[in-house]
Amino acid sequence: MADKIRVVVLYGGRSGEHEVSLKSAASVLRHLDRSRFEVIPVSIDKAGRWQWNDLHAIDRAQAASLPILPDAPEMRLARGPDGRCALVPISQSGAGPLDIDVVFPVLHGPLCEDGAVQGLLELAEVAYVGSGVLASAVSMDKDVAKRLAEFAGIPVAPYRVLTRKAFVRDRAASVAKATEGLALPVFVKPCNMGSSVGIHKVKTWEALGAALDDAFRYDVKVLVEQGIDAREIEVAVLDGETPFASIASELNPNAHHEFYSYEAKYLDPDGARVDLPAKLDAAQMARVRMLAVQVFAALECSDLARVDFFLDRHSGEFCFNEINTLPGFTSISMYPKMMEASGVPYGELLTRLVNLALDRHLQRRSLERTYAS
Ligand SMILES: Nc1ncnc2c1ncn2[C@@H]1O[C@H](COP(=O)(O)OP(=O)(O)O)[C@@H](O)[C@H]1O
Ligand SMILES: [Mg+2]
Repeated sequence: MADKIRVVVLYGGRSGEHEVSLKSAASVLRHLDRSRFEVIPVSIDKAGRWQWNDLHAIDRAQAASLPILPDAPEMRLARGPDGRCALVPISQSGAGPLDIDVVFPVLHGPLCEDGAVQGLLELAEVAYVGSGVLASAVSMDKDVAKRLAEFAGIPVAPYRVLTRKAFVRDRAASVAKATEGLALPVFVKPCNMGSSVGIHKVKTWEALGAALDDAFRYDVKVLVEQGIDAREIEVAVLDGETPFASIASELNPNAHHEFYSYEAKYLDPDGARVDLPAKLDAAQMARVRMLAVQVFAALECSDLARVDFFLDRHSGEFCFNEINTLPGFTSISMYPKMMEASGVPYGELLTRLVNLALDRHLQRRSLERTYAS
């Protein structure tokens, strides 16, 4: 037991994707190699409380979505007596402190995937799976991510950025800016969300105002983006000596959904059909895999990311849509499925991710922090 690597699986989180995380984490806990890793399940509830959950109870329940029990001991991350990062109980609970080796954040969305949790883990000086603060933050911001991709020569759909401040000050001017040079339909998106929350397909200019009002409920920055008649192609990237791009998949939202909406993603069991591999010719497949690695590098990601593209049905060109630095990990999620189809089974994938995190942490710890002349 003593030589096992202690992995904290961190899940839940204060984002709209809390419930997705509970499912992702259930699947990660099932697939982590228990012969190598001692697994500690730590949840973050919607109020932001961190709790240490009972692994045996979770194992016994075999639930597809992890429950967060109110009486699980509340914990915080702190430096243990020997200087290592530890889980420390907040109240008298009989639990901990417990030294930990690595954190696997199985969290999605704002405050979870956007560099906030990653910053906390940096301060705690603990190894963690996934992109660091910079890549997490820029990848979550759909505007900045696209700007960096464009700068690296990767095509993106034309879009305009509106701020809530400007929208509130002069609604007409914002609407005029949003429509200039774009043709219907357009997509209105909160800049930093996920799971299609707050996204609207706008088919008449009269409908634009209401769509913007709704999107500004979720973010102070909103994108108005050229709608493209496109196929939706995704690629999973796994870091290594050189980043590895999986075989691409295609998501075909069911025709009765206008686009790949929240309903199509999570509520409708027939919301989308997946083709894995995507039905692409060899040149298209090679191109999208190469673009995925280029995006991963341009955004300075680490360990893993799912990179989503549109394949324009008219021009035949790919454009980068968005990147997820902590993609879904449920039993039906595309990231593990694409890796599996590319020769990396789920359990081995998790082992590789944990090892990547430990290696990176070692390298960073060896850097000089002070300057002695
Ligand atoms: N420019 C666009 N053209 C066509 N469809 C789009 C466009 N932008 C978004 N969509 C549709 O909306 C869905 C969600 O948008 P996306 O930018 O991927 O946000 P999220 O982070 O919420 O997944 C996409 O999967 C796609 O179906
Ligand atoms: Mg998406």
